[in-house]
Amino acid sequence: MSKFMDWVDARFPATKMWEDHLSKYYAPKNFNFFYFFGSLALLVLVNQIVTGVWLTMSYTPSAEEAFASVEYIMRDVEYGSILRLLHSTGASAFFIVVYLHMFRGLLYGSYQKPRELVWVFGMLIYLALMAEAFMGYLLPWGQMSYWGAQVIISLFGAIPVIGNDLTQWIRGDYLISGITLNRFFALHVVALPIVILGLVVLHILALHEVGSNNPDGVDIKKHKDENGIPLDGIAFHPYYTVKDIVGVVVFLFIFCFIVFFFPEMGGYFLEKPNFEPANPFKTPEHIAPVWYFTPYYAILRAVPDKLLGVIAMGAAIAVLFVLPWLDRSPVKSMRYKGWMSKIWLVVFCISFVILGILGVLAPTPGRTLLSQVCTFLYFAYFILMPFYTRLEKTKPVPERVTG
Ligand code: HEM
Repeated sequence: MSKFMDWVDARFPATKMWEDHLSKYYAPKNFNFFYFFGSLALLVLVNQIVTGVWLTMSYTPSAEEAFASVEYIMRDVEYGSILRLLHSTGASAFFIVVYLHMFRGLLYGSYQKPRELVWVFGMLIYLALMAEAFMGYLLPWGQMSYWGAQVIISLFGAIPVIGNDLTQWIRGDYLISGITLNRFFALHVVALPIVILGLVVLHILALHEVGSNNPDGVDIKKHKDENGIPLDGIAFHPYYTVKDIVGVVVFLFIFCFIVFFFPEMGGYFLEKPNFEPANPFKTPEHIAPVWYFTPYYAILRAVPDKLLGVIAMGAAIAVLFVLPWLDRSPVKSMRYKGWMSKIWLVVFCISFVILGILGVLAPTPGRTLLSQVCTFLYFAYFILMPFYTRLEKTKPVPERVTG
């Protein structure tokens, strides 16, 4: 075996890569619950790719046959219903895991220097993931697939001058048709998965270049032993690979429970109108995107003007990209930040959740007002960040991790 590895290593850096990224990658020893979600995101990514490839074997990407082919997968294909529900539930699980993963970043300042690029690559993944989920949702060619896509694509029509041409270019037709379905299929199964995989590699390379942050936000590289190993670091493999298995098992219990017993999740993971085939002549009474888009949808609807609404929605995502440069705090972790950072993070999270709930519901004057207040607070968290992070009194950060 060792001779074989010598032969390989002389031609390909297999052992070097194993050591650099696993057996000799020293991660802080104080990782907590929130550090499970990176590896869980990887797990869900693999689930989506594997189940997606199998679904593609029986799915037909045409306006005439798409809906029926999904029914065929659900009823006749061996293990088809499990494959389909693993994929549809996997989409929601992806966003739950990624939102918790991002929240950890906010909590421990993981986006701060020197991890700005880790965050920016993460945000690019998030964008690509949203595009991937949006295009995937058109494929079953149900009522919500059709009308959801109709609403979102028509938003581009609000852009002055080029708006109309742009929407036509995206659809490839004067209205959403089989042509749109075909291109969304190509992007969903080939182009975007490649982009996402590539970005995940860049994300992890960037992280391993600077090393992982931790719940204390202290730099473990400051204190090393005589061999140059951080005193507060432990080898990723075997220690964190074993620890992550615990997270994987718990996650799979919850995930499989949902897949087997509540795959529609009361209409939140699979919306009810999507059990009817797409009908361009019949608009559903109430169109709402899937839950993971609803905070942004609520921001869009909070602004009375369509173009300004689209701009606000775009800005809500764009502002996350520049987060590393908005936080001026001398400390990373919320444990040592002042009370203003803590309150603003709570306000931001509550606003985001309320916006998510409002985005599912039909608008009323009261709800619109609430969504305007939450939109204001959402942006205030970011815009005021350079001020409150600089003004507030922080607690002293310990030299070494606290356990
Ligand atoms: C497919 C989606 C993603 C995958 C597979 C992924 C994977 C990972 C992995 C394996 C880690 C190291 C383990 C950990 O710290 O949990 C990590 C760290 C990190 N990720 Fe992601 N990630 C994804 C999306 C994102 C997104 C959307 C963001 C934020 C916009 C993000 C921001 C970060 C940050 C800041 C770290 C460093 C955390 C620290 O050291 O404290 N990631 N990611």
